[in-house]
Amino acid sequence: MEDLSAKYLSRIADARDEAALEEIRLAAVGKKGEVSLKMRELGKMTPEERQVAGPALNALKDEINSALAAKKAALGDAALDERLRSEWLDVTLPTRPRRQGTIHPVSQATEELTAIFAEMGFSVAEGPRIDTDWYNFDALNIPGHHPARAEMDTFYMARAEGDNRPPHVLRTHTSPVQIRTMETQGAPLRIICPGGVYRADYDQTHTPMFHQVEGLAIDKDISMANLKWVLEEFFAAFFEIDGIKTRFRASHFPFTEPSAEVDIQCSWVDGQLRIGEGDGWLEVLGSGMVHPNVLRAGGIDPDQWQGFAFGMGIDRIAMLKYGIPDLRAFFDSDLRWLRHYGFAALDQPNLHAGLSR
Ligand code: DAH
Repeated sequence: MEDLSAKYLSRIADARDEAALEEIRLAAVGKKGEVSLKMRELGKMTPEERQVAGPALNALKDEINSALAAKKAALGDAALDERLRSEWLDVTLPTRPRRQGTIHPVSQATEELTAIFAEMGFSVAEGPRIDTDWYNFDALNIPGHHPARAEMDTFYMARAEGDNRPPHVLRTHTSPVQIRTMETQGAPLRIICPGGVYRADYDQTHTPMFHQVEGLAIDKDISMANLKWVLEEFFAAFFEIDGIKTRFRASHFPFTEPSAEVDIQCSWVDGQLRIGEGDGWLEVLGSGMVHPNVLRAGGIDPDQWQGFAFGMGIDRIAMLKYGIPDLRAFFDSDLRWLRHYGFAALDQPNLHAGLSR
């Protein structure tokens, strides 16, 4: 037994890594290890022999096991020491400007518009990108048969056979966040909801994923006049052009009554988009007075409260402001494009220092 002890203890001491250690463990105290086999022989011994051999074998097994554990810990410590010695980083080194990332124009535009609406008392609300068709459609006064559902090119989530949860969609607009926020916060309310939305559409001005910002203001005596003022203030601040021309066109949305679409004055010169000049118009948002059915769906009494809402394409206004001709480039992840159109990471847009520099 002393031979066994000496043999295994010295092999353990010499082991170079955990794999070697495991081999030794199996050879000694594993199921078919030498010590285990010896223990099996106890059955064939006389009771007197067993009384001596039993405790001795147990002690040997304990000795080997604790030597294995101690060696394992020592190997772990040594490995950690080695990593600490070889892997180090001088955190005082300056960053390399060429490797610095840039802020994507969509993120930049989102930060900018958030800063502008915050000045006007709007806070940011968010909702899920995968939502039920109730939030995305029904609650917004778009019932199942309504043509607006077909027009939206909706992505429906696949459903397993027998799944009877309500159908889910990739939200086609940020309007469902209106309902969710009415439910959780009630009236009065003044929010914007920026975020990604999805529609099966693809050309120079449409991508299957794009961004909108929803606006919603609910109070006792809010009118279209408030809506117009808020939007005109917003456009002047965002495009940094005082008195920028906007055009309000009568329109129709199921969730507003009356409704208006808003265009921004612009022109195309040599393939370059210029805003605030020329005789072209680019539609940037839909808006109107919140339909009573929508307030009701959000748990707000339309006899007590009224409000305006709008939904604007963030990518659209970013294209206009920064002169980006093709929407698809936003989502190509082309580093050269990102370096050209991206913004400095540490410049936080705010109204007083200037939105974008
Ligand atoms: N949800 C509409 C869309 O995606 C945009 C919209 C229009 C939002 C009018 C509104 C609104 O809040 O009042 O086309």
